[in-house]
Amino acid sequence: MSTMTTSQPSHAADRMPDFSNDLQLSVRDLEITLTTRDEAKPLVKGISFDIRRGETVCLVGESGCGKSVTSLAIMGLLQSPPLSVTGGQILLREGDSVTDLAALTPRGSAYRDLRGRAMSMIFQEPMTSLNPAHRNGRQIVEMIRQHISLSRAAAWDRMLEMLRLVGIPSPEIRAKQYPHQLSGGMRQRVMIALALACDPGLLLADEPTTALDVTTQAQILNEIRKLSVKRHTATLFITHDLGVVAQLADHVHVMYHGKIVESGTVREIFKNPRHPYTRGLLASVPSLARDQETDMETLDPIPGSVRDLPEDPSACPFQPRCRMALKRCAHETPPEFQVSETHKARCWLEAEIR
Ligand SMILES: Nc1ncnc2c1ncn2[C@@H]1O[C@H](COP(=O)(O)OP(=O)(O)OP(=O)(O)O)[C@@H](O)[C@H]1O
Ligand code: SF4
Ligand SMILES: [Mg+2]
Repeated sequence: MSTMTTSQPSHAADRMPDFSNDLQLSVRDLEITLTTRDEAKPLVKGISFDIRRGETVCLVGESGCGKSVTSLAIMGLLQSPPLSVTGGQILLREGDSVTDLAALTPRGSAYRDLRGRAMSMIFQEPMTSLNPAHRNGRQIVEMIRQHISLSRAAAWDRMLEMLRLVGIPSPEIRAKQYPHQLSGGMRQRVMIALALACDPGLLLADEPTTALDVTTQAQILNEIRKLSVKRHTATLFITHDLGVVAQLADHVHVMYHGKIVESGTVREIFKNPRHPYTRGLLASVPSLARDQETDMETLDPIPGSVRDLPEDPSACPFQPRCRMALKRCAHETPPEFQVSETHKARCWLEAEIR
């Protein structure tokens, strides 16, 4: 198993000199490939990002850009075959040790042991995690006892405390019910309680509230935010909803066609978006297009679709949809430009203003 203690540098540790103490997850040059009989198609093309303890990092981008496969790769839950991690590192801290998840076998016992205990995931559809045939409380108790050495009674108390923490009234009654006896919002809360039951250092959330009404969505987002701050959980939140990003994120990564095209603090991304794709996303949101102190006063959706790709594979992938494209964009991939210490953009316009 590729586990190393940070206090005892090893050969592997030499390759990650800056894994500071507050870093919980560091994804470095991650590549995910779809392999069929006819081709090997890269879906995620070398993305890198960090998440620190207590920090919420949002991954945003249009449908199909690779958000879900990224989170599934971290959890070791990619559908394999045809999908697999074909490059990069996924460094996860647990206590004093750091494990490169990309070097583990996803179906192996080491990975299985980390799921639920060191990291867990909440999905849009709660029944992805919940078993319809088991009572709500029992599912959480089993998860706790699988990873933590606690008596049944102590695990039961911990489960009730978790249900209370995620805002479930009368947890003693709800614990004895089955998932189908709860409303959609309540089921979502039970799934969050299940995910957080073992106090994982890393929480992955893939569009967890998209199917809920706006009021329940806002309440649940608040709970997730409060819990992650209180328990110092590093959270990766995946969404295409920029309103949610504004409410939750510390740091934002904007993905387009399997690459991160812009990243920065939430303030940098909302107040000073540099990549035309990020500007387009912001201009497509009614409330943001009206409220932000930018020059985008009206709704202005991005033209074309994410399937529009340039003819030349070495072009900027956004070129066919970009209103600001320069001549070189049609045949040269832009590198990453540093806008500030925390802000980066992959766009040739940055070279023009230097
Ligand atoms: N099991 C799979 N088999 C084949 N292709 C897949 C599979 N899962 C994902 N893909 C492809 O990988 C690409 C990225 O998919 P992904 O689900 O990560 O997108 P996403 O950014 O999460 O989109 P959405 O916002 O719609 O959830 C898409 O082109 C998708 O069709
Ligand atoms: S590199 Fe060129 S085509 Fe790509 S986003 Fe920037 S301006 Fe548009
Ligand atoms: Mg998805």
